[in-house]
Amino acid sequence: MTFVQARQADPSAPVADAAAAEDFRRFPEGFLWGSATSAYQIEGAANEDGRSASIWDTFCGTPGKVHRGDTGAVAADHYHRWREDVALMRDMGLNAYRFSIAWPRVQPTGRGPAVERGLDFYRRLVDDLLEAGITPLATLYHWDLPQDLEDIGGWPRRDTAQRFADYALLTGRALGDRVSHWTTLNEPWCSAFLGYASGVHAPGRTDAGDALRAAHHLNLAHGLGAAALRDVLPRTARLSVALNLHQVRALTGEPEDLEAARRIDAVGNRIFLGPMLRGAYDPDLLQDTAHLVDWDDLVRPGDLEAAAAPIDELGINYYTPAVVSAGGGVRDDAHGGGDHSPWPGAEDVAFHQPPGELTAMRWSIDATGLRDLIDRVHQDHPDLPVVITENGMACEDYRSPEGEVNDTDRIAYLHQHLGAVHQAIEAGVPVSGYFAWSLLDNFEWAYGYAKRFGLVYVDFPSQCRTPKASAHWYARAIRRNGIDRLP
Ligand code: FCB
Repeated sequence: MTFVQARQADPSAPVADAAAAEDFRRFPEGFLWGSATSAYQIEGAANEDGRSASIWDTFCGTPGKVHRGDTGAVAADHYHRWREDVALMRDMGLNAYRFSIAWPRVQPTGRGPAVERGLDFYRRLVDDLLEAGITPLATLYHWDLPQDLEDIGGWPRRDTAQRFADYALLTGRALGDRVSHWTTLNEPWCSAFLGYASGVHAPGRTDAGDALRAAHHLNLAHGLGAAALRDVLPRTARLSVALNLHQVRALTGEPEDLEAARRIDAVGNRIFLGPMLRGAYDPDLLQDTAHLVDWDDLVRPGDLEAAAAPIDELGINYYTPAVVSAGGGVRDDAHGGGDHSPWPGAEDVAFHQPPGELTAMRWSIDATGLRDLIDRVHQDHPDLPVVITENGMACEDYRSPEGEVNDTDRIAYLHQHLGAVHQAIEAGVPVSGYFAWSLLDNFEWAYGYAKRFGLVYVDFPSQCRTPKASAHWYARAIRRNGIDRLP
């Protein structure tokens, strides 16, 4: 019975029902309700079935790089517990799951034939997901470059882009019969600028010129990888890339602060959006960074056409906005701090923490940032659907003696951000899905196991999983295909 019928049938019920209908935010049919993970953060089994070391294994083994010396060697032991994890997803009612494939499992040295045992793990996982009615979305690269490729130069080396395209081809061929949604790279900004400029991520190098070279080769890798996938995937396959776009806000309307915001937008957003979606680097970006890299030498004929290989949707990862002003050189603590800036050509821009609530990462909570980002992308690329490939929050979660994890802050965060997504949809933006980061508590990069982002609590010593209150809240949203209006 619809709400309107209810009103006609029972004059006492209508007010409540109509109000309830008005307060309910329904998502479109077929909306993907997902959660996301990545290989190094959850799989563990670092030395099994032929997997070789990635840059993250090496980085974790380097004293002082990761909180308390934590590593992803065991992580959430998903490599052995994947059945249980798929069952958790099924119980939650997820209809989509975003995971990443570990390059060092598939091609341990970053070149040569694929290791079938490595691929078999993903075949089993995907088959189980499909059986549970969960659409798999596979990301090819979530930061775990085979160490052998770093040893000969890593992302600043041009050939790494070609290596990635070969890996994409092998993987697409092996899994293309069962995976329909593919993402080339996760957050190339982090790979380039946290990995090679600030050095707070693997491989921990600190050379701004190399970071810019890495960024260009990641653009190229994305395009070559997308083209390779198209060659081997069915025509119905959907390709994307997941960018951590920065919602940049100037602290004041003063020209110097607006200029600071422009610089961060250039090297934070447009450095990837430009080549990938338009086949061009913006002149202001090239100018800001001309003293760090010889762009004419770096960008070879055909590179930009290759980088702009068509995609079917753009993945947006969003957590917090960035508030910036000129001068001051305040460290960018939201991106790990560190003595070296992750912003080549914009090193002197100051970062500010806006007033208001913070997550356990000390990231400010602001769902309007997500709304603004989606609008911006839509305005610039009206024909390109978007998908929210990551969004979520770290909380100081603990399990009560009764065995419950009552993460009400995370529920509020998810509610607000899903509200922002719904507003964008209502305004006409094609948003195809939302992937909560993360399914499980996991290895949070340089923070080790100190930060918990999961919908499911993981007690790492026992590997026992407990769905948090947020998992139950999310399950209800999925069941209803919608959320209540925000309070
Ligand atoms: C994103 C990463 C993801 C996770 C979240 C918190 O930048 O893609 O792996 O670490 O942040």
